[in-house]
Amino acid sequence: MLSSSTNQQPSMITPDSTPADIAVGVVGLGLMGCSICTCLLMAGHKVIAIAAIPADLDHAAHRITAHLRKSVAEGLISESPEHYLANLTITDNYACLAETGLVIECTLENIDIKKSVYHKIESVVTDETLLASNTSAIPISILQQQTKKPSRFFGLHWAEPSHTTRFLEIICGDNSDVSKGEALYQLSHFWRKEPTLVRKDIRGFITNRLMYALYREAFYLVENGYASVEDVDRACRNNAGYWMTLVGAFRWMDLTGVPAYHTVMKDLFPTLSNQTEVPKLINDIVLAGGKGVSNAKGFYEYSTEEARLWEETFAEFSYEIRRLALKYPADVVKKKLTNNDPGGSK
Ligand SMILES: NC(=O)c1ccc[n+]([C@@H]2O[C@H](COP(=O)([O-])OP(=O)(O)OC[C@H]3O[C@@H](n4cnc5c(N)ncnc54)[C@H](O)[C@@H]3O)[C@@H](O)[C@H]2O)c1
Repeated sequence: MLSSSTNQQPSMITPDSTPADIAVGVVGLGLMGCSICTCLLMAGHKVIAIAAIPADLDHAAHRITAHLRKSVAEGLISESPEHYLANLTITDNYACLAETGLVIECTLENIDIKKSVYHKIESVVTDETLLASNTSAIPISILQQQTKKPSRFFGLHWAEPSHTTRFLEIICGDNSDVSKGEALYQLSHFWRKEPTLVRKDIRGFITNRLMYALYREAFYLVENGYASVEDVDRACRNNAGYWMTLVGAFRWMDLTGVPAYHTVMKDLFPTLSNQTEVPKLINDIVLAGGKGVSNAKGFYEYSTEEARLWEETFAEFSYEIRRLALKYPADVVKKKLTNNDPGGSK
């Protein structure tokens, strides 16, 4: 698994590319880098995984192997982990990226760190190689200015764990070559995603704009004494958590009656939080070194064992919800219409 580059000529990504044609580089092997590598290996790509810091070398092989083992056990893939691992190179040598057609940067959410990584990547890849970032919310138009060739730069925004989730946003910056974004969009269907091509860049893209609106209101309710952290979490799990795997916000309003939402908006919108500062509650936790379950310090108190079990339970749940989600793809009703149409679909 730890090997050096073979220095093959990279294939360029086109709308007809398949995973077997394209070697992909992943730079940064933390939480998301490892699950992105797993997803790409499962799809049939050769993967060059670059350890951006020495600690990545200690855990990446173990994490990716564990994801593959679990994916075999859960029936996501049929070959043994070794079959996929044969396509994986883990190294700290950026020169190994020379053979890639796409490199995905997955380092900390910090522009200076990302910029230094782009410099190292661009000094070894060809002009045709596409470059993408898994940034959560730094605008792609800003990140692409940190590169030598902005037109080949895109956002590829994944959701953890990347090898089980269907979510993927492909984001074009102001200077991205949209036709290359379309080719990436095509390729990402091999990664078992229901992808979205975001042609016009905006901070937070689609999903984080939606989610951070929810987080802001959650802090508002707790900090102003209307609800506890537990109350907010219970409401999220049992309301949106109940229907969101089947439908999004707009289909939900269609399903439950549009006029009621119209009426509520008039009275409720003026009362929602529009605070622009980072809330004190999260500020205090971060200043005290809290990271969440990863160090057992977050909005809740955890024993070490409890924190470990939350991580394990989330992993278990992600396979189970994936099975349910696959029964209800975006075109579930279109498929029912086709099956009920004796003359076949038009
Ligand atoms: N965690 C999520 O659910 C999630 C979801 C979507 C997007 N993202 C984004 O993905 C990126 C990575 O997030 P993560 O959760 O995998 O983080 P992580 O903390 O698990 O890993 C961060 C990685 O950054 C690299 N790194 C750290 N310090 C570095 C340095 N000084 N120089 C170069 N590289 C360094 C290392 O490879 C490290 O493993 C971030 O931009 C994050 O916003 C995360």
